[in-house]
Amino acid sequence: MTAAHPTPPVDRDVAKEVDFYLSDTLVDEGADLVATRESPASHEMPNIAVATNFGAFLKLLTQTAGARRVLEFGTLAGYSTQWFAEAVGSQGQVVTLELEPRHAEVARKNFEQAGLADRVEVLVGPAIESAQRLIDEGVEPFDVVFIDADKPSNPAYLAAALELTRPGAVILIDNVVRGGEVRHAASADPSVQGVQRVLADIAANPNLEATALQTVGAKGWDGFIYARRR
Ligand code: SAH
Ligand code: DHB
Ligand code: MG
Repeated sequence: MTAAHPTPPVDRDVAKEVDFYLSDTLVDEGADLVATRESPASHEMPNIAVATNFGAFLKLLTQTAGARRVLEFGTLAGYSTQWFAEAVGSQGQVVTLELEPRHAEVARKNFEQAGLADRVEVLVGPAIESAQRLIDEGVEPFDVVFIDADKPSNPAYLAAALELTRPGAVILIDNVVRGGEVRHAASADPSVQGVQRVLADIAANPNLEATALQTVGAKGWDGFIYARRR
């Protein structure tokens, strides 16, 4: 028998401490990213932004890809957004899609505080509608896409991402482990199903090459998909 949410194979508190140790040792966030990371607490927003070392990873991969344009699904207070904004440089642009006007407002303030507002655009509303508008407008393709909003919509977001990118683009999808439930094909959880369906869509798409990695750390046990357009 397997529990629905099995204990991760490491002590959660130790994993958290190790994440903090690694981030403190290696990652120089700077005051503006610290302020953005801490901002949800004072605005009754959930504390679900990417971990510091994951944010640094997003910046590094964006720079490694030489990306100038990043599209994000799910802004919250703009912590991951701000890592991308740093990565694309002053000539780059990040477009981030957020349902909640309250979250978007906090994020915009954070970008202004960090002097990054001119390279970040927050589009408020259901992400699928904002993405469709970008498609209809024929915007310049994005180099990196980070999918991190409501999980049942993952397949729709992937489909939109494919309309908004060209070969060579990287598409990342956060939070794919779902407490281990992702491996249960018969799961009735819409978020689990959203992950399973997007995995199947990626696997069936000859234009995508992908892997998925589990992570353990400050946010517990989770993982992400890393896909690249051929
Ligand atoms: N990427 C952020 C965290 C995003 S949390 C970071 O790591 O810093 C997920 C966000 O998705 C929340 O702010 C939530 O309001 C937003 N969201 C949920 N459903 C959405 C939808 N249908 N369209 C757009 N955003 C949505
Ligand atoms: C949740 C969402 C996220 O994007 C995340 O990284 C962690 C948790 C959530 O909705 O609970
Ligand atoms: Mg996430």
